[in-house]
Amino acid sequence: MTSLELCSQSELSVPKQSHTDHLRPRFHLTAPYGLINDPNGFIEYDGQFHLFFQWNPNACEHGAKYWGHSTSQDLFNWTLQPDALKPDHSYDQHGCYSGSAFVLDDQLHLFYTGNVKTSDGTRLSTQCLAKATDESNQQFTKLGPVIEKHPEGYTAHFRDPKIWSHDGLWYCVIGAQTTEELGQVLLYRSEDAHNWQFLGPIAGNKINDVSGFGYMFECPDLFHLGNSDVLIGCPQGIEPDGFHFESKHNNGYFIGKLDYASATYSHGSFKPLDQGFEFYAPQTTGASDGRRLLSAWIGIPDEDEQPTTDNDWIHALSLVRELTVRNGKMYQLPAREHARLRGQESGFEDIQLSSESNISIESKHCFELLLDVEQIASEFTLKLADEGDSWVALRYDPQTSIMTLDRTQNSYLPGMRKCQLSSGEKLSLQVFFDQSIIEIFVNHGEEVFTSRVFPTSNQSKITLETGKSCIIRSFVKYDY
Ligand code: FRU
Repeated sequence: MTSLELCSQSELSVPKQSHTDHLRPRFHLTAPYGLINDPNGFIEYDGQFHLFFQWNPNACEHGAKYWGHSTSQDLFNWTLQPDALKPDHSYDQHGCYSGSAFVLDDQLHLFYTGNVKTSDGTRLSTQCLAKATDESNQQFTKLGPVIEKHPEGYTAHFRDPKIWSHDGLWYCVIGAQTTEELGQVLLYRSEDAHNWQFLGPIAGNKINDVSGFGYMFECPDLFHLGNSDVLIGCPQGIEPDGFHFESKHNNGYFIGKLDYASATYSHGSFKPLDQGFEFYAPQTTGASDGRRLLSAWIGIPDEDEQPTTDNDWIHALSLVRELTVRNGKMYQLPAREHARLRGQESGFEDIQLSSESNISIESKHCFELLLDVEQIASEFTLKLADEGDSWVALRYDPQTSIMTLDRTQNSYLPGMRKCQLSSGEKLSLQVFFDQSIIEIFVNHGEEVFTSRVFPTSNQSKITLETGKSCIIRSFVKYDY
């Protein structure tokens, strides 16, 4: 191997002013300091959930990534464990990049990408294994690369292995780029999770008549749900399509069937998983109770200037979600354990709002809001605001069924995201607000909007403004 350098950056230590930092989330997972991105190795094992994550503990920027590690019994209270992987071997010295976890011979294993950039700028990507070597699954020993190189016809943008087992064999999907710069998803198979056979590309640009589908596919995840095989992930370089895919980097899913014998995946169209501004690199796991759970990065690549860097941290992970597929569509709900976090309840029930009236509740920035509205006669707006100034608004127009997340008043990347709902004159919202994170579940999981917003104080007003009349079945807030 040619000359390889280790990144030397100054270590951050404890977060500055974490106790007074009004932007730091209380019930979303974030790193104590530095930059966090993709969830990795999400798995339930030995009586607890393990959620690893891409972490640069040395700076609030992307760099030589570690795998941070956290564990939880309830998917909401996470305990930080010692780092699982450090970029300290020749084959991963510029980053232990994203990947997944699995259990082999009763031992927790990690499958990740070793990232190396040589001094002439060449990238080398290998797919590597590590395994837990202590009873509490906190110490990991690296076993080295098991897929040494990308296949012929592909570049070294070859990463993010997601592993599963099927009929006694191991499979994995890996995000890849062809030498013509087309983003594709590659399928591999193995008998022992160490020796892997390349089966071919199964989805992406120029596969299955798909075209214009970008230059790289990151973080693929393929899993069985209901009667379908779902492939989620992040194609980079796709064009906006109506209201969809308007971010710099996007996320979404195919619903289809994987034919294991022919290594082909037939699927429908690619749809967004989340309609908000910041959502990327989602990863799922199958829980022992049968649920398919998802975690994602509330951030996107190339957007790393946020006010929190003044306090030495940036980004967070989403709430864990439960997935179901109905009529060819993905539904997402917050993991049901969230109800345990509910504190004091306040709000209104069964009231009729006449033309141009409004109702409000005062709030701190840490709450869940349930809103059920019927007979909506014209557009209404739900606003979250500091004294006078609204920094995020949700608008719903019953004539077009279009919901708009309006961040134009926010100092951070002002803009709007829209999507079309099925609901007409009825709407149900479940909004989680956590200091500087908003996650909005619309119509019992039909759509979700996830975004960052950066209020200037710690106190706000939640106001519902109607144009013409509507009936509010509930407008209830739980403090968290
Ligand atoms: C997605 C991604 C992955 C890569 C990791 C590096 O956000 O770019 O493809 O493994 O982040 O941190």
